[in-house]
Amino acid sequence: MFDRDHFIEDCITTVGEGEGAIGELVAAAVSDGSRVFAELGEPTRAGIQTLYRAPNLTIINFVWAPCMSLMPHDHHMFSVVGIYAGREDNIFWRRTAAGIEAYGAKSLSAGDITTLARDAIHSVLNPIARMSCAIHVYGGDFFAPPEPRSMWDQETLAEAPWDVERAKASFADAEARFNAWRAAGTVATGH
Ligand SMILES: [Fe+2]
Repeated sequence: MFDRDHFIEDCITTVGEGEGAIGELVAAAVSDGSRVFAELGEPTRAGIQTLYRAPNLTIINFVWAPCMSLMPHDHHMFSVVGIYAGREDNIFWRRTAAGIEAYGAKSLSAGDITTLARDAIHSVLNPIARMSCAIHVYGGDFFAPPEPRSMWDQETLAEAPWDVERAKASFADAEARFNAWRAAGTVATGH
């Protein structure tokens, strides 16, 4: 049964074993989404909520706005993604001589997890008309990575330094856009 404090403690004691061991913890955590809601609360706003941050470990509760897309970016640390409500579609990218190219994808439903390698580049889409919720665990300090991180423009795929404020703004922008659609009566939503 998911318990916020126990989950954090388990991640602290396990992170040194790597992404496989963290993956087992995350899989267990997201196996019962209703239990995660009971511990972390029902989402009211899109955004990221840091549950724990240390030099070797970051745990974040992601609430994706409906119909939201986050630009390609890297992490420079392993990560494990576990979905506990909705859907999270990941596109995986790799560097080429000219920039980046998409080479794979993984669509995650509630209860699913995926592991991203240290050098992974991904973009994320919430394709449904309600919020999707995920626990992301990183094997480092997400907000102060050991090497400078990058993000890529959604349209041109031009590389730029990672800007966490811009990433946060994309959650707020997507939420505002969706709320405008909802106010106009063009969509229905849950949560
Ligand atoms: Fe990411």
